Amino acid sequence: MQTNFPVEDIRKQFPSLKRTHHNKEVVYFDGPGGSQTLQSSIDAMADYLMRGGANRHGHFPTSIETEEMLARTREDVKLLFNAAKAEVAFGPNATTLMFAVGRALARTWEPGDEIVLTELEHHSNIDAWRTVAEDKGVTVKYIPFNPKTLTLDLEVLPELLNSKTKLVAVGSASNCIGTITDVKWVAEQAKKVGALVAVDAVHAIPHMYVDMEDQNIDMLFSSAYKFFAAHVGMAIIERDLFESLDVYKVVPSPHEIPDRLEMGTQNHEGIPTVSKAIQFIASLGEGETMQEKIKSGYNRIEAYENKLADKIRAGLAEIDGVTLYQADDSVPKTPTIAFRVDGISPQEFCIRMCEEHSVFIAEGHFYAQTLAERLGILESGSFIRAGMHLTIQKKKFIAS
Ligand SMILES: Cc1ncc(COP(=O)(O)O)c(C=O)c1O
Repeated sequence: MQTNFPVEDIRKQFPSLKRTHHNKEVVYFDGPGGSQTLQSSIDAMADYLMRGGANRHGHFPTSIETEEMLARTREDVKLLFNAAKAEVAFGPNATTLMFAVGRALARTWEPGDEIVLTELEHHSNIDAWRTVAEDKGVTVKYIPFNPKTLTLDLEVLPELLNSKTKLVAVGSASNCIGTITDVKWVAEQAKKVGALVAVDAVHAIPHMYVDMEDQNIDMLFSSAYKFFAAHVGMAIIERDLFESLDVYKVVPSPHEIPDRLEMGTQNHEGIPTVSKAIQFIASLGEGETMQEKIKSGYNRIEAYENKLADKIRAGLAEIDGVTLYQADDSVPKTPTIAFRVDGISPQEFCIRMCEEHSVFIAEGHFYAQTLAERLGILESGSFIRAGMHLTIQKKKFIAS
């Protein structure tokens, strides 16, 4: 097992890390807003366009190559999420796919049915399901967020579930405070009453392995611009469930899965970048199979990122006037750190970090609006969010 994380070699693979602002190398601390892009992803996109793109179903090389590229990428995505029993649909982003799946699922819901969401979520993973539930007279229940522990109060979940529960939607990790939720346990509870489990893995996926089969997930949503590739959304849906989904679609478009969910023409130049990102994660790991390499790659990413994030958390905690919004050490977290600083507005803080230190860092509620409300942040401004990726190097931000 290699021990040193090859951050220098990794950084060479991301051309935008060379960007400067006021003659200083930029430090990217807005990772959860979107990662930087691999050179191999950029090349794959250019290559697709330069070779001659085409739409699908044609009997000529560019169309056949597009079909092959789509099929290959779907297989790679299945490996990434250990999703052999699922099919992969692409779309513009995760939100659009969640809403499309929500509309399809709701066609089977009856007034009086119930769904369970959580207060910790990015609102895509709330409103995609809540809106259609409201249309159908379906009751929406929430797993509460505990502002003291900065985790979900999962122990109430069994009381929220019953034979009328159709869906439980939960996120792997919070895009705002980094808290990782025990999705496997949530799914176990949901399955006891026959509810479907939808998981938002958008924030988690650059940082941790999300195993669809092991966690008993029926539907998983992700987005490639968060993990080193282009703007491509993904819905990975267990095959039998997918077959049963009555999606809103254009009549002449293919009815088979996964095509059924892919509305209009996809981002054909963006999709091959997804495979490059998956190969990159695998390249960091060891093992015989691609899947083993992916898993071991994630182990190394986690070890590296967590060490740096712990240092930043500890450093921030020592500064007078800094309030950290984070669960305690016993709770696993992504390297995503929300905080505020007394005496300076989050906006002013971010502007000064940018202009004085070339650190690109964001503030807001990041669409985790209910979470921000529960923490009393909404009425008084926003969080500052330091969100790292594996390209962050200690000397870069310490020097700033
Ligand atoms: C946790 C989480 N869920 C969903 C989304 C929305 O993803 P997309 O931009 O692909 O629609 C985001 C985007 O920031 C996110 O962080």
